[in-house]
Parts: sequence; C-alpha cells; structure tokens
Amino acid sequence: MLTRKCLDRILVYQPGKPISEVKRELGVERVIKLASNENPLGPSHLAVQAIYDAARQTSVYPDGAGYYLKNKIASLARVKPENIIIGNGSDEIIRMLTLAYVNPGDEVINGDLSFITYRIATDLADGKNIHVPFTRDLRTDLTATLDAVTKRTKIIFIDNPNNPTGTIVDQKEVADFLAKVPRDVVAVFDEAYFEYIEDENYPDMMEYIRSGRENIVILRTFSKIYGLAGLRIGYGIGSPAVIENLNKVRCPFNTSFIAQKAALASLDDPLQIERGIANNEIGKSYLYQELKSLNVEVTPSYGNFILAKFPISGKELFEKLLKKGIIVRPLTGYGLTDYLRVSVGRVDENEIFIDALKELW
Ligand SMILES: Cc1ncc(COP(=O)(O)O)c(C=O)c1O
Repeated sequence: MLTRKCLDRILVYQPGKPISEVKRELGVERVIKLASNENPLGPSHLAVQAIYDAARQTSVYPDGAGYYLKNKIASLARVKPENIIIGNGSDEIIRMLTLAYVNPGDEVINGDLSFITYRIATDLADGKNIHVPFTRDLRTDLTATLDAVTKRTKIIFIDNPNNPTGTIVDQKEVADFLAKVPRDVVAVFDEAYFEYIEDENYPDMMEYIRSGRENIVILRTFSKIYGLAGLRIGYGIGSPAVIENLNKVRCPFNTSFIAQKAALASLDDPLQIERGIANNEIGKSYLYQELKSLNVEVTPSYGNFILAKFPISGKELFEKLLKKGIIVRPLTGYGLTDYLRVSVGRVDENEIFIDALKELW
C-alpha cells in the first residue's frame, strides 16, 4: 500500500526510554529517569484526588471542548474562554496548527535546535521546514528568523525556553521581532516550561493576546511543573479567529474527562508549583556545580533540564548510564553528538546521577 509521500521524510519520534522498559531489559529494581523533563515530585495531591473522583464517571464522553478548564485558565490568565483551546498535550496543538495553516509546499520556520515535534508536524502537513541556525550561545536567532520569512511562510515556531538548550529569547528581542513579523504569519511561542521562570526579562506574551494581537499563539502544558505528563493535557492561547480554526481540526473528544479534572484541580494548588520551582533551583545549582567540577560544559538553563557537553560521545555516555539504571537523553537527532540533556530530578536522583558520572570518569 502506498502511503502519503510526506511520510518518507518523517522519522518516528523517539521519546525518553520508559522506566518499565529499562527495568525489564536490565533486570534491576532501581531505575531513575532524567530524560523527559517531567516533575520529579509528581502531581498535586488535589489532582490525584480529582482523578479518583472522576474515575466513576468514565462511561460518558467528556466535554470535548473542556468548558470548565477553559474558563478557569481564561480567568487566571485574564483572557476570554474564546482565546483558549485544550489539547491532548501541547504536542497535539502543534499538530493542529500545521493542519490548520499549512498547505503542501508552504513554509514553516523553526530553529535548527528547536523542539523536534515542529518538524514532524510540518512534514505531516506536507509543508517545508525552514531551519534557522541557532546563535553560537545556543539561542533562537530572531533576526535570522525574520530574514528567513518569505511569501510562503505560514508559521514560525519558537520554544521559549528552548528544548533542548534551555535558553530564552527576552522581552526586547521578542518585541522587536513582533514589530516586523508579517501579520499573516502565525508566531507560536511554546512556553512548556513557563512556570519555572522567574526572570523579569522573560516576555509577557499574554499581554499581546489581551491587547488583541491576532497572529500570536502561546502554548502551555500540564506535563511539566504540574506533573500530569501521563494524562496528556495542554493548552493554546490565541485570538478567537485562530482558536476557531484550530477547533475545526481538533478531534471531537481530544482530552479525557480525567485529564480535564486533574488539570482543573492542579490550578488550585499553588504550593505544588512553589515546591516544583524550589526543587528545580536547588537541583540545577547542584548539577551545575558538580558538572563544572568534572569539566563538563553546561548551558545555563531556564527550564527543568540542563544541556551538558561532554568530552566523549553523548550516545556512548547515555548507554553507560543506562547500564547503571539512569535514563538521560542523547541528542544525536539534533546533531549535538557530544551532548546529553539531563532533567533535574529530586535531590537523591541528582546525586545518583553525579555519583554514576564520577564512577565513569
Ligand atoms: C518545548 C516543548 N513543547 C512541547 C512539549 C510537549 O509537551 P506535551 O506533553 O504538553 O505534549 C515539550 C515536551 O517535552 C516541550 O519540551
């Protein structure tokens, strides 16, 4: 059977190795996963209770559009419910964007070190990926991004902070960029790690939405600090016109009732966020310090993960760590052959990772 031609360009997405798989392969009990930028402290106890409570109501279809969740997010973000779309993870909204806006041959700009899902979603819509090189200090280059815009550009994806480098573009850079970007191009700011950021130069993208800017979409997720990656739920914020277009390509019941309830409950637990930020800051400082003392080059990160450059191949080091029951992320797919991306774990997990590295040195 012949598949669509564009599938030839797509490699199946390689997620971080699941803990259960590594346990099975190695026959060991203790496996720690620092590979997918999850919250090592887990979800809010309120979310867990909401999941139990919702379990009895799974015989009916969910509210496909996520009415209550949209309303709650809208009131917290001071926008309207018409500005919000709920997705099966923000991954799904990335795909909705290319399905809604990209005709075969249209161009989608993303960085050569941007989150890999943008490429796949573009290929799936039979669009053309335009990869703009990152700067030498591993940041999204917004000037070069503007230079890459043509009449066929439909979407620009910017992950801020970027995954896998952890770097950001700041308020001024974004303002200059948005002053020049054509109004018929959708500029997507993927803020999956937003809640971790305390830097005052980080752009306030919501203010653009409130002021009625039409061609901006913000992506956020419950997979990271909220600790709900396993439930698959995220959201997009944009103008009502863009959101209506995304709703046209959304599967009717794209998020589950349980996921919606857990996300709603999570929003009532600011303490869980505080704990997540505190754990991340402590873990990041420890990892920076220890990695530097091992002469490993680290890129300062705004997220809950660290990009580290090693004197040996990242793939080789990944395999060695895996044998010790530690899952990290090699970045060969990005051409970063000497690098690993390591998620910040709990204090004990970070120590196990560093001790393992010291043994391998
Ligand atoms: C930048 C970025 N965007 C989106 C996602 C996907 O998140 P979700 O679990 O909401 O699909 C990730 C996950 O790693 C990410 O790093």
